[in-house]
Amino acid sequence: MKTPFKRPLCPAFTLVFALLLASGPRASAQAPVPDSPAIEARAHAMIAKLTLEQKIELLGGIGNMFTRPMPAIELPQFKMSDASVGVRTWGPTTAYAGGVALAATWDTDFARKLGESLGRDARARNVNFLLGPGVNIARSPLSGRNFEYLSEDPFLNATLVVPFIEGVQSEGVAATVKHYALNDQEFNRHNASADVDERTMREIYLPAFEAAVTKAHVDAVMNSYNLVNGVHATQNDFLNLKVLKGEWGFQGVLMSDWDATYDGVAAVNNGLDLEMPSPKFMNAKNLVPAVKAGQVKESAIDEHLLRLFRTELRYGFTNRPQFDPADSTYSVADRPVALQGALESITLLKNDGHLLPLDPAKVKSIAIIGPDAYPAVTGGGGSSEAHAFEPVSILTGVANLLGPDVHIFYSAGIPDGPGQKEVVAQADAVILSVGFSAATEREGSDRTFTLPPGQDALIEAVAAMNPRTIVTLTGGGGADTSRWLDKVPVLLHTWYPGQEGGTAVAQILFGQHDPEGKLPVSFDRSWDENPSSKWYDGDPKDSTTLNTIGADGKPLNYTIEHIKYGDKLMVGYRYWTTTGKHPLFPFGFGLSYTTFSFSNLAVPASAASGSPVTVSFDVTNAGGVAGVEVAQLYVSDPSAQVDRPERELKGFAKVRLDPGATQHVTINLDARAFSYWDETAQKWTIDPGKFTIRVGDSSENTPLSVDIDLR
Ligand code: BGC
Repeated sequence: MKTPFKRPLCPAFTLVFALLLASGPRASAQAPVPDSPAIEARAHAMIAKLTLEQKIELLGGIGNMFTRPMPAIELPQFKMSDASVGVRTWGPTTAYAGGVALAATWDTDFARKLGESLGRDARARNVNFLLGPGVNIARSPLSGRNFEYLSEDPFLNATLVVPFIEGVQSEGVAATVKHYALNDQEFNRHNASADVDERTMREIYLPAFEAAVTKAHVDAVMNSYNLVNGVHATQNDFLNLKVLKGEWGFQGVLMSDWDATYDGVAAVNNGLDLEMPSPKFMNAKNLVPAVKAGQVKESAIDEHLLRLFRTELRYGFTNRPQFDPADSTYSVADRPVALQGALESITLLKNDGHLLPLDPAKVKSIAIIGPDAYPAVTGGGGSSEAHAFEPVSILTGVANLLGPDVHIFYSAGIPDGPGQKEVVAQADAVILSVGFSAATEREGSDRTFTLPPGQDALIEAVAAMNPRTIVTLTGGGGADTSRWLDKVPVLLHTWYPGQEGGTAVAQILFGQHDPEGKLPVSFDRSWDENPSSKWYDGDPKDSTTLNTIGADGKPLNYTIEHIKYGDKLMVGYRYWTTTGKHPLFPFGFGLSYTTFSFSNLAVPASAASGSPVTVSFDVTNAGGVAGVEVAQLYVSDPSAQVDRPERELKGFAKVRLDPGATQHVTINLDARAFSYWDETAQKWTIDPGKFTIRVGDSSENTPLSVDIDLR
C-alpha cells in the first residue's frame, strides 16, 4: 500500500531532526500552506478509502484532547491543548498576561508576539491545535470567563485577534477561535439560550469571529455550549452554515466545545465537523441508521472530513513531526514576553497626590498585605488555568526590586498580631493586593461583583492604619469598590498578569515603567448600573422545554432558560455615552506618569460613502517622563436613519513618546467604520450624511472632534 501519511520519519527528515538537535537553531516555523488542487485531491483520496463507519469514527475526538487516528489511511492522532493564557494541558508552562490583559495592552504587535510564543510553546509539547483565543464579549463583569476573553468592544477584539491568530498559525499550529457564539455568561451554560436580534449579533457579538475567519484565516472554530435563539450552537444553521461557512467562507474545522453536542443528526446536518472530546452523539449508532434513512447525506459526512483532512494536510501534520527539537519546553525566551504583557496591561485607575511612582531610594519599610500578594495569582480558573514553573508574586517582585536593605512586612489578612498594627502604620507605603483568583473567578460559574468575602473589611482596616495604601486589584473586569475607593489614594488594576506579574507590578509602582494599560471594559460603580444587569437572568416564565434524546438513546427533556439580550447594542461604553451617564471609570481610561495632548485633527470635509477615509492627528507627551498613550478614535453617526450608539471605537494607535516629543498618527477608516447592520436589507449599510470623528484618550475624553459629510 502507498504510505503517504506514515508517521515514522523518513531518513531525510530524521537527518534534519538530528542536525537540529545537535546544532540548536530552530527549524522554520512551518506555517500552513494555502489550499491547493493537490491538497484537495489528497484529502478526497483519503476519504475514498474509508467505509461509512470509519468516516463516522473520525467525526469524534479521543483521549480528551486528540483527533482520532485511522490506521486504514495511516492517519495519526493529532493533539490539542487549551491556551488562552498559556499552553496549559500538558504540564507546567509559561503563563502569560492574555485574554482581558491582552486587550488592556491595546497593542497589536504584542498580540502577534504572544501568539508566536504560544505557537512555539505548543510545538514544544507536540500540540497541533491550540484551543484559543477566546473572543466572547465582556457583556457583564460577572461572566466567569471574561478574563480569558478580550474586551467589551467588537472593534478592539477584532483588531487584536487577527495578529494573535496569525502569530499562532505562523508557527505551524492551528488556532481555534472560541466560543462561537454568545457564550457571555457561565451560569447555566449548557441550558441557557442567548436570545438576541440579528443586528446586535452582527454588530457586537460576531465581528471578532468574523475577523478571525476572514482576515486571520483561522483554521479551527469552537462552538459554544449555550443555545442561540433557542438552538444549540453546535446545531445552529444560522451561525454555522449561513454565517460561518457561507458568508465568511470558513474552510477549516468547526469543533464542539467539550460535551457541547446535544443531537448527532442535527449537528452533522448543521455544520459541526468534529465532536469533542468523544463521539457521544456523532457516532455510528446514531448516524448509520440516519444515513440509511436519508436523514443525513453521506456527502455531508465527507464534507466534515474534508475540512479536517484539508487542515491537517495544509499544516503538514501528516508528514512532519509537530515537535520541534529546537523549541524549549521551559522557555527562557518567553519570560520577557510574559513580562511585556504584564507591563503593558496593568492599568492605573487612581493616583491621588501623585503617590506613585514610589521612589525606591526613599522607601525603607514597606507592608505587603492581602490574599493576592502571595502566592502569585497568574490567571483565573477552569480549562485555561496555566501552571507556571516559577510565577513571581507581588510580594516577591517588590522584594526583588527593593533588595535586602528595605524592611518588608507581609500578612495575608488583617495585621492584628502584637506590634503588627504599628509596623503597618509606620511603613513608608502599603501594597494591598486584593481581588479574585482561580478559586473565585472561573469557568463554569459566574462571579460576584463584590470582592470575595472579607476583602472590603481588610481594605478598610488597612487604609485606616496607613493612608499611603496602594490597592492592587486582580480580576477579569470591574468590581465593587464603593466601600473603600475614597479611602485609598491608589488603585492599580492588574487583571491576571501571568507569571511575571509581581515583577511588572514592582516596576510600575517604583517608576521603572510607565503604566500603560487602558481599560478594555467600562468599570461600573455597582452591578445594578451595568446595562446588562436587568437582562442577565432569564425570567422563569420564558423558559421552554427541549424534548430530545440523550447520549444513552433515551428521551431527555430539559428546561431552557432564555436570556433576552434586551440591552441590545448598549454594551459597556455604548450605553454610557448614549445615555450621557458616567461609569466609575470609562472604557479606554488609564493613567500614566506623564500627560499627553492631542492636536491637529485632519479629516476630509466630505467623502464618497463607502470609500476609505484617512484621519490624522498629533499626540504630544506634555509631561516630564517618557510614557505611552493609546489614542482612540470614535465615530458618531448623528444623521443615521436608525438608532445607533452615540459613539463607537473604530481606530486606535499606541504611541511611545519621550518628554516633549510629538507623533503624527494616521488612521484609515474603511466602509465598515461608518456602517450598521440593516436587518431589512440584510447588509452593512451607510446612511449618507454627517458623521463625527472624535479622538482622545478614553471613550469619555475626546478633546478633538470634527465632522465629515459622507455623500
Ligand atoms: C471549555 C473550552 C476548552 C475545553 C477543553 C471546555 O470546558 O469551555 O474552552 O477548550 O473545555 O478543555
